[in-house]
Amino acid sequence: MLDSLAPEHVEPLFQGGFGLPYRYEASCESTQRLLDRNAPEGAVAACDEQTAGRGRLGREWEAPAGRALLVSILLRPPPDRRVAELSLVGGIAVALTVEGALGLSAQIKWPNDVMVNRRKVAGLLAEASEGTVVVGIGLNVNQTRGELPQDGRVPAGSLLTTDAVERERAPLLAVLVFELERAYKLWQAGGLAELYEELGSRDFLRGRRITIEGNSGLAIGVDRSGRLEVELDGERRLIESGDVVYQR
Ligand code: BTN
Repeated sequence: MLDSLAPEHVEPLFQGGFGLPYRYEASCESTQRLLDRNAPEGAVAACDEQTAGRGRLGREWEAPAGRALLVSILLRPPPDRRVAELSLVGGIAVALTVEGALGLSAQIKWPNDVMVNRRKVAGLLAEASEGTVVVGIGLNVNQTRGELPQDGRVPAGSLLTTDAVERERAPLLAVLVFELERAYKLWQAGGLAELYEELGSRDFLRGRRITIEGNSGLAIGVDRSGRLEVELDGERRLIESGDVVYQR
């Protein structure tokens, strides 16, 4: 199987307006650092291996060379909008890409994970600076079980561990970029309300017992502003951001 993310294999597959300019490096510190902030909206960077891949909350993001999609996309959202919503917009794009590949449903675990069969197959990181937002996506594609992180917080999976099929990453990348453009344009036009059906129907935490910042309660679900509604001590609260531990 030819599995290359080099421009000659990826660029012809892009549809729509996002994708170009496309920057590819075999190895880089982090794709979050590869994009020129002056590049046009929709510019994409990808690599096969990151030497300092970044996760949320200062964590590391690790994947063996050539097995995952490690991608960053440059956006210029309207200045008055919440950047945190873009993790959910990206999550919808990833979930649809994964569903198309696997023929199985995927869920979005607020605020930035994509789950299949209760395992995290992708994580998203939205970083803002100088009017731009770089959305970074790590999607586990061809990792075997032994190649996945075993930190125990959220069990990890890949597309390969889900259905035992090894996949080329270039077509997945093209679909992901296309889906991100579609979801982003809807969000630009009308916010998360425009995507609420797609998000609400894939809400992983809805109805689960959770703990957030030491408080335990029930997750009601992600609301139309992208906040997590929870019931803690009989009181409803909207959580802006945080690390959720859920009961399996
Ligand atoms: C998380 O789940 O904590 C978010 C992980 C985001 C990882 C991706 S991989 C591509 C991009 N480059 C990085 O250094 N991080 C993001």
